[in-house]
Amino acid sequence: MREERMESLLEYIEKSREEAERVGSSVKDFRVFDFSFIPDKPLIRPETKRIIDCLVRYQQSGIPRHLVIVGPRGCGKTLTFRYLAKALKEKLGLPFHGVNCRVHNTSFKVLANILKMHPRGYAYSELCERFEQTIPGPAVIVLDESDMLCEKDVRKDVLYFLSRSKRQYSVVLLSNNPRYLRNLDESTRSSLQPEYIHFDSYSAQEILDILKDRAETGLKTVDEAMLGEIAAMTDIFPVPVALPSPGRQYSLQRCRPMLPCISPFREFATTPCRLRDW
Ligand SMILES: Nc1ncnc2c1ncn2[C@@H]1O[C@H](COP(=O)(O)OP(=O)(O)OP(=O)(O)O)[C@@H](O)[C@H]1O
Ligand SMILES: [Mg+2]
Repeated sequence: MREERMESLLEYIEKSREEAERVGSSVKDFRVFDFSFIPDKPLIRPETKRIIDCLVRYQQSGIPRHLVIVGPRGCGKTLTFRYLAKALKEKLGLPFHGVNCRVHNTSFKVLANILKMHPRGYAYSELCERFEQTIPGPAVIVLDESDMLCEKDVRKDVLYFLSRSKRQYSVVLLSNNPRYLRNLDESTRSSLQPEYIHFDSYSAQEILDILKDRAETGLKTVDEAMLGEIAAMTDIFPVPVALPSPGRQYSLQRCRPMLPCISPFREFATTPCRLRDW
């Protein structure tokens, strides 16, 4: 009995390998479909220029500009800042430091993560001191998924520290639910005074452009008709629908434009909302 099971498991591994080979044979570069892939030329939203204007002026004057970028899931908040981090560092030498607050969800952990330190064995004030010594400014500090800062971290001290530091950091908060900012204490609110920039969901045409670029970079052949169909679906179905992958449900609103549906990648994309760090 045990041996039989073992054999069927080995058979299954072989079958699974063959299937993966079959599906993967149309792929030029698997990395292109990783969630953290940054395209060479991502679709640039008009709002990006406003962000660039703010950061260029910050770099020029040293006077901090704080930003809150708000928008629904999948609208490119993280991608935009990861792309800008690279571009502005190259062009202006403006350093960016990013942290995902879903993973590092307290003020303490946020600072420790940026400093690449273990968050134990230090007092919070020591960590702040170390932060100012290590990161002299000007520097842009991006708190991704900032609404995930733990509720127990009531005062969100990290926002107070970053926005008041003599190092004049520029703070960028990315979020799809910035309501938590209303509950900040007066002093943090007064030093933060961010500019709000809203990202809308992508239109079907924008999704098509994004999908096409990704497919052309990552696949050996591109089925344009299929990409068109997928892009069109993102406008039609506001609720979860089954994509052509058997038995799997995706909310298109939620995962647009997460690209799990480009054939053959729907096979691999089992984790459209995978956590990623900076
Ligand atoms: N402008 C774009 N050009 C190319 N790819 C994009 C673009 N915008 C988003 N994507 C891709 O779509 C996926 C989702 O984007 P991203 O993670 O940046 O969204 P988000 O707004 O940060 O979502 P969340 O609120 O879930 O954090 C990623 O795979 C990203 O590479
Ligand atoms: Mg994000």
